[in-house]
Amino acid sequence: MEHSGTLESLAQELRVFRPLPQLVIEANVNPQELESFRRQAANDPQGYWEEAADELDWYKKWDQVLDESNAPFYRWFPGARCNIVYNALDRHIETANKNKLALIWEGEPGDSRKYTYYELYREVNRFANALRTLGVGKGDRVIIYMPPLPEAVIAMLATAKIGAIHSLVFAGFSAKALRGRIRDVKAKLVITADGFYRNGQIIRLKQTVDEALVGACADCVDSMVVVHRAKVDTDMLDGRDFWYDDLVRRERPESPTEVMDANDTLFLLHTSGTTGAPKIVSHCHGGYMVGVHRTLNHVFDIKPTDIFWCTADLGWVTGHSAVLYGPLLAGTTTLLYEGHPNYPQADRMWHIVSKYGVTIFYTAPTLIRMLMRFGPQYPRQHDLSTLRLLGSVGEPIGPETWLWFYRHIGRGECPLLDTWWQTETGMFMISPLPISLLKPGSVTKPLPGVEVDIVDREGNSVPPGVGGLLVITKPWPAMMTGYFNDTGGDKGDETSGDKSGEKGVEGERFREAFSRFPGKYLAGDVAKRDEDGYLWIQGRADDVLNIAGHRLGTAEMENAFRSHPAVAEAAIIGVPDKIKGEAAKAFIILIQDAQPSDDLILDLKHHMRKELGPVAVIKSIEFRTTLPRTRSGKILRRVLKAEELGEAPGDLSMLDDTE
Ligand code: WTA
Repeated sequence: MEHSGTLESLAQELRVFRPLPQLVIEANVNPQELESFRRQAANDPQGYWEEAADELDWYKKWDQVLDESNAPFYRWFPGARCNIVYNALDRHIETANKNKLALIWEGEPGDSRKYTYYELYREVNRFANALRTLGVGKGDRVIIYMPPLPEAVIAMLATAKIGAIHSLVFAGFSAKALRGRIRDVKAKLVITADGFYRNGQIIRLKQTVDEALVGACADCVDSMVVVHRAKVDTDMLDGRDFWYDDLVRRERPESPTEVMDANDTLFLLHTSGTTGAPKIVSHCHGGYMVGVHRTLNHVFDIKPTDIFWCTADLGWVTGHSAVLYGPLLAGTTTLLYEGHPNYPQADRMWHIVSKYGVTIFYTAPTLIRMLMRFGPQYPRQHDLSTLRLLGSVGEPIGPETWLWFYRHIGRGECPLLDTWWQTETGMFMISPLPISLLKPGSVTKPLPGVEVDIVDREGNSVPPGVGGLLVITKPWPAMMTGYFNDTGGDKGDETSGDKSGEKGVEGERFREAFSRFPGKYLAGDVAKRDEDGYLWIQGRADDVLNIAGHRLGTAEMENAFRSHPAVAEAAIIGVPDKIKGEAAKAFIILIQDAQPSDDLILDLKHHMRKELGPVAVIKSIEFRTTLPRTRSGKILRRVLKAEELGEAPGDLSMLDDTE
């Protein structure tokens, strides 16, 4: 069968959930306003985003909203001057937010710290001064390799405040992975902790940095700041290593905020690398802050009394936009938890929700699936009645997980906002609002000002019900400003980074993302639209299977397995098949009480056939207790595939080997 690059769509989900009337009445954006935002943004996108920009403070406003003259290297708000930290922190000190809680932190052992906006402001100023004393300035790269501690938040804000560029590395990464990342961005400073608590143990962190700092990597790093968290014996190198407390003690709690060009870099961040070597995405102060501020306010309907808990690590884009910058731009209270979600037992998350009265709980399907395995008796032990909104991000959630989350955590009353976006997009792109009709497993519609399409391989829009490539057809303000060290082509060892500045090919990878269908950004996901215009993400394009000419996304098959009562988690890969060209192999994690057996295998295959029809043939099933995942929780199907085919797995630095 000839295929034009479209994807079969097998699953059909007919359930629809409506928001409670009271919630619609109280929403910041009601259905009429949402429609009018959509219309305004469609007719005059620049006007729409300009209004969003006007809600923030600028040292100098823009010469124009969007410069498209060098597309796809779009520049938002050229000529404007600003600093995201002014908007996330400084400006709140002049308002009623001054004495409101900005940050609630809980450590794994149960210790806790709280900061008002004023207190956070003063801490950030002290550390900003300390950074300047260490010789860090505008444009310098700072690696933050830290557990979720208040000092990590302070370090990010202080770095941005003085115009330096932060680049976070998740604290679970190895010395080797850290070394590559330090070298990639040529960091001048590393900020870390002596250690931290995770699953009842102390993880020593500073010594990992010491291990990383050898060779070329050691040459670029002038100094290291160490937060005293775990109080473990720590070797300090004279002249290079400094205790955080010693540095800030001497500094004053006032510090000027650097005036930045709107397009100056705010941060660099490696992508999670599910389908290959990670790329280093760069975001700027101006457009990023506008996009994040507008979309977080719309989607999460921020109210003055909210306690916002996004469970992502600060080291992912979700941590940047939805733990730190988004909530602080909105003047809300953000919550940060240091430890393992199951420590000391499987109700820790729900314990935290009830202890602090969390109102918005935003997490990833992988965490929900893990907690589902333990059953609903854990959330039932806690008062979760303060919750008013739930959110999901990172992977297709699928109807089963969606319904469990909605019913057992959200009492069947809290809208579940499934937000689709990427490190590259910086801000939420496709998502419901609390007032939207919800279909379990659908990310619903693009937000106002975001235009998407689903196209076949030739770039033609596909009709409803047919899957294809997800593209974004108009620039958006929080779009990445580029890839760092973007020299294009296949560099092999991505982490070497030593080809930076090579002439003639600058921006090649970035250009690639816009070049397959000129002017459109290729997201790398496959998706379909239903008759109501609702969008369904079917997986990563690289993971698509081709079974006897039928092209199938992984998400629908995995979701179908997850609706079987014995299944907790599933991953699908394609394996060569003499007759069909490719066939599906499933890796299954069972729920706690289920046992693998031949009967169960037959039953699972039958279940799949019943759910999705005869096209979805499962060649074999393997039971596992864990699946290879990125450290942000995404299933690494390419690793399963390489294992299966006995091939080299490629870059594994993003693999979570802690489970
Ligand atoms: C996937 C995370 C389905 C998708 C913010 C995307 C999702 C990649 C969703 C980006 C969602 C993210 N439903 N899939 N709601 N959100 N994804 O860069 O494949 O870590 O391309 O950014 O995660 O992952 P990243």
